[in-house]
Amino acid sequence: MAPHAAPVDDVAHEQVDGIGPTGRTRRSIPDPPPLLHHGPAKILAICNQKGGVGKTTTTINLGAALAEHDRRVLLVDFDPQGALSVGLGVHPHQLETTIYNVIMENDTAVPDVIRKTMIDGMDLLPSNIDLSAAEIQLVSEVGREHTLVRTLRPVIDHYDYVLVDCQPSLGLLTVNALAAADGVLIPLECEFFSLRGVALLIDTIEKVKERLNPKLDITGILATMYDPRTLHSREVMARVVEAFGEIVFDAVINRTVRFPETTVAGEPITRWAPRSSGANAYRALAREVIAR
Ligand SMILES: Nc1ncnc2c1ncn2[C@@H]1O[C@H](COP(=O)(O)OP(=O)(O)OP(=O)(O)O)[C@@H](O)[C@H]1O
Ligand SMILES: [Mg+2]
Repeated sequence: MAPHAAPVDDVAHEQVDGIGPTGRTRRSIPDPPPLLHHGPAKILAICNQKGGVGKTTTTINLGAALAEHDRRVLLVDFDPQGALSVGLGVHPHQLETTIYNVIMENDTAVPDVIRKTMIDGMDLLPSNIDLSAAEIQLVSEVGREHTLVRTLRPVIDHYDYVLVDCQPSLGLLTVNALAAADGVLIPLECEFFSLRGVALLIDTIEKVKERLNPKLDITGILATMYDPRTLHSREVMARVVEAFGEIVFDAVINRTVRFPETTVAGEPITRWAPRSSGANAYRALAREVIAR
């Protein structure tokens, strides 16, 4: 009987000569230095207005991989769908208080809503469908674009990284995330149409930088759902690297069924399948993020 083809998960990223899937020689990334003290946190918005590109998956697994390096991490669910909360085993509709209450009510403090996750050192600020009302209610507020940064201020010194999982739109919630952030991490699916919306996203980032948040920068572009067996995936990757150059991370996330499995399990892949290539890819990303 012919042996089964190796699942994508088991295909090694690295070729012998050190050329990664980006087609570039992998840059050498120093070992993350141990921290002498924690905070103030670097805020990263995980952002792409295209749906289903791996924003939530990246938020959870990058967070868990950063926590392995003893970084204190807060994950902010800033999507009314609550997928980040679900991905960490929290049922959003059962929550009494969420980020919505902190944003809209003066008597709810952010530490009261933050929850521990199953990962040591990684906490969650959950959301649910209530947050969609905030988007409408905020429109008439003074300083509406700075609501999230005000919300996070009391806890910023406690964490090393705050990762904000954005919803798939460039509306007011996403602008709030960009106005709060030090950097934007853009997950980009290795599919033909994925490049289309990126110009608009970069334009929005530029506008927010100019008008609201001069410190904002693009931390990096992360290629997701890469399938090394298809020419299509490799071609899209080549175009992404050609278009964006150095800001494309060497870490690349393969398409594998392991990720949908982790959502069902409600755990990061670093815990669900700690030795899988998916877990290692997010670990490699964490090292790059710490180094940038
Ligand atoms: N590398 C991957 N390989 C295969 N499936 C993946 C991968 N990354 C994410 N997925 C799956 O694809 C779906 C969309 O991923 P995810 O929810 O992370 O995207 P998103 O950008 O947050 O979506 P949305 O725009 O709806 O918020 C999920 O079912 C997830 O499990
Ligand atoms: Mg999502």
